[in-house]
Amino acid sequence: MSWQACVITLLPEAFPGMLGHALAGRALDEGVWSLDIVALRDFGTGKHQSVDDTPSGGGAGMVLRADIAAAAYDAAIAAHPGLPVMSMTPRGKPLTQKRVQELADGPGVIVFCSRFEGIDERFYDTREVEEVSLGDYVLSGGEVAAQVVLDAALRLRPGVMGDARSGEDESFSAGLLEYPHYTRPAEFEGHSIPEILTSGDHAKVEAWRQEMSEQITRERRPDLWEIYKKKP
Ligand code: ADE
Repeated sequence: MSWQACVITLLPEAFPGMLGHALAGRALDEGVWSLDIVALRDFGTGKHQSVDDTPSGGGAGMVLRADIAAAAYDAAIAAHPGLPVMSMTPRGKPLTQKRVQELADGPGVIVFCSRFEGIDERFYDTREVEEVSLGDYVLSGGEVAAQVVLDAALRLRPGVMGDARSGEDESFSAGLLEYPHYTRPAEFEGHSIPEILTSGDHAKVEAWRQEMSEQITRERRPDLWEIYKKKP
């Protein structure tokens, strides 16, 4: 069975978006994964199928109603029983490559794209949802974030990436940032390719790449470096 992606959104036209292109797009056409869109608006109330309301207690913005979020959630779960549900929000737990790998290894994911100021808290009180953040900045909605999560998971699925090796040997999977890459031309604006890389000595190349990865991680991400150093 193909990997299932289900997205709950107020902007169904934003999908597949980026996921309809390149490797993920081809894999979607080939049935390697499937995409089901649940339109939040279908669960709205009144003439305008309204989904939001003003925040209790006052303040700026609008809040997504719990009853409407829950109805869309229940429909998504009914169509895709057993899938984990993520809600994309800046107050969520930061997404990691480890969590992405777990998603890729599972049957798929339901992603709830939040908009406005957020969702009425009673939605989270009554439904099983993992709140996930992409980082400490605020996007205008969860749609872009949902595509990021799906892209990151899909590229780890068999049949999505052309060269399976490039999924393994890269930033974060080993706890280090990636080493620098080079290709032709041999000379670019006075900069040449490090000699080791054209020496044909694979052991030396590997050692150089490891050293560069460690140096870059130490300089740019002392937080990751501390964790890496403590690994047995
Ligand atoms: N929606 C708005 N901001 C977000 C963020 N930083 N991560 C995930 N979803 C979001």
